[in-house]
Amino acid sequence: MNIFEQRESGVRSYSRRWPVVFSRATGSRLYDEDGRGWLDFFAGAGSLNYGHNNPVLKRALLDYIEHDGVTQALDMFTSARRELLETLHELVLRPRGLDHKVLFPGPGGANAVEAAMKLARTVTGRTEIVHFTNSFHGATLGALTVTGNPLHRRSAGLPLTGTTAVPFDGYDGHPRPEHLARMLAGPASGLDRPAAVVVETVQAEGGVNVASAEWLRALAELCREHGVLLIVDDIQAGCGRTGAFFSFEDAGVVPDLVCLSKSIGGYGLPLTLLLLRPELDVWRPGAHSGTFRGVNPAFVTATEALRVYWRDDVLEKSTRAKGEWVAHALGAIVAAHPGAGLATRGRGLIHGLVLGAGLADAVSDEASARGLLVETAGPYDEVVKLLPPLTVTDAELAEGLGILEESVRVVLGRAD
Ligand SMILES: Cc1ncc(COP(=O)(O)O)c(C=O)c1O
Repeated sequence: MNIFEQRESGVRSYSRRWPVVFSRATGSRLYDEDGRGWLDFFAGAGSLNYGHNNPVLKRALLDYIEHDGVTQALDMFTSARRELLETLHELVLRPRGLDHKVLFPGPGGANAVEAAMKLARTVTGRTEIVHFTNSFHGATLGALTVTGNPLHRRSAGLPLTGTTAVPFDGYDGHPRPEHLARMLAGPASGLDRPAAVVVETVQAEGGVNVASAEWLRALAELCREHGVLLIVDDIQAGCGRTGAFFSFEDAGVVPDLVCLSKSIGGYGLPLTLLLLRPELDVWRPGAHSGTFRGVNPAFVTATEALRVYWRDDVLEKSTRAKGEWVAHALGAIVAAHPGAGLATRGRGLIHGLVLGAGLADAVSDEASARGLLVETAGPYDEVVKLLPPLTVTDAELAEGLGILEESVRVVLGRAD
C-alpha cells in the first residue's frame, strides 16, 4: 500500500481512476514519475483552459514572486487585485455591456454558489431557490441543496431544504421551461415565490446536457416576469469553454449573478468571483467573509490570461472551430456503431459521448491505457466527457480523438 492509500481519506476519487503519481505537466500533457505522458482531456475539470504551466502565465507568476509581490492579503487593496479588476472590466465586462460588480467569495467554486444563494435570499427576503434536474453546483452544504447528484446529496448529513428541483432543458421533453412556468404562474402550485433560479447553461457533471439558447432566453424572461433573480453558474462552462467568454452570451441573456471559478485563475490557481448587478450589492462590510479572498498570485495569472486570450476573438474562434471538429469526430464514432445506442452532445470544447453505464467507465480506462485522460459524467456515469485545454493543438486533438475512437471500438467489440 502506498502512502496515499494508507494515509489519505478514502473520499479521494480522481486518483482511483488514474492511480499513478503525476510529477510534471506542460500544455495538454501530464507526466508521471516514470516519465510516461498522458494527453489531458480532463484539464483539471475545466480549471486548465489555457493548459498546464502555460509559459506566458508562468512568466508573469515567476516575475511577481521574484519581486516579492504580496501573496495573501485577504481583501486588502493590492496592485495585483487592482490590475485584475481593471482588466476584467476593460476586456470582459465593458465590451459586453455588463456593469456587474465583483465579489471575491473565497477560493473554490462552491464559495461563489454559496455567496450567490445567500445574497439572493438577503436581497429578496425570500427563501426558496429553484435548481434543475441533474445539476451540480459544489459540495458545500448550500451548494448541495441545489445539486441533483444523490451521492453528493447523501453526504450532507442534514436535510437539504429551501430549494426545489425542476426539469432542465429536455428532461421532460419540453423545448421551453414549461414546468417552471406553470409552477410560478399557478396560485396553488406549492412553490413559494423563489428568491432565485440557479442554472448551468451546460450541465457538465450532469452529463454534458446543453440548454438551448431558446430555453435559456425563456428562463431569463420567466425570471424577469416573476421578479426572480437569475444566477448562472459559469464555473465549468465559462472562461471560453463554449467559445464566448461567458456561456450565456450566445443566448443573449444577462444574468443577475454569475459564478466564475476554475479557469478564471488562468494557471490552475484558486480564484473565484461572483459577479453581481450593482443594485444587488447590499451586504454590509464584512457580512460575507473568508480568509482566502486575496490569493494574489492567482490575480496575476488571471489578469495575464485575460490580457493574452481575451483582448481579441482569436481564442473564441479557435474554440468554436475545434468544437465543430470534435462534434464531427464524435458524430463519426456514433455513426460507426449503429444500434449501440450512442449519442453525442456539447458546445464549444465541452463534449459528451453517451455510451451507457459501465461502458463509459470502460472507455475511459481503455483511453487511459492508451495515454488519454478523459473523465465520465452523468447520473449513471454513462457519458465520456471531453474537456481538452482550449489551447490544445490540432495534432493533440487529432491524437486524442483517435485514441477515443479506438477505445470505443475495443470496448464495444468486447461487449458484442
Ligand atoms: C458547475 C459547477 N459549479 C460548482 C462547482 C464547484 O466548484 P468547486 O469544486 O471548486 O467548489 C463545480 C465543480 O466541478 C461545477 O462544475
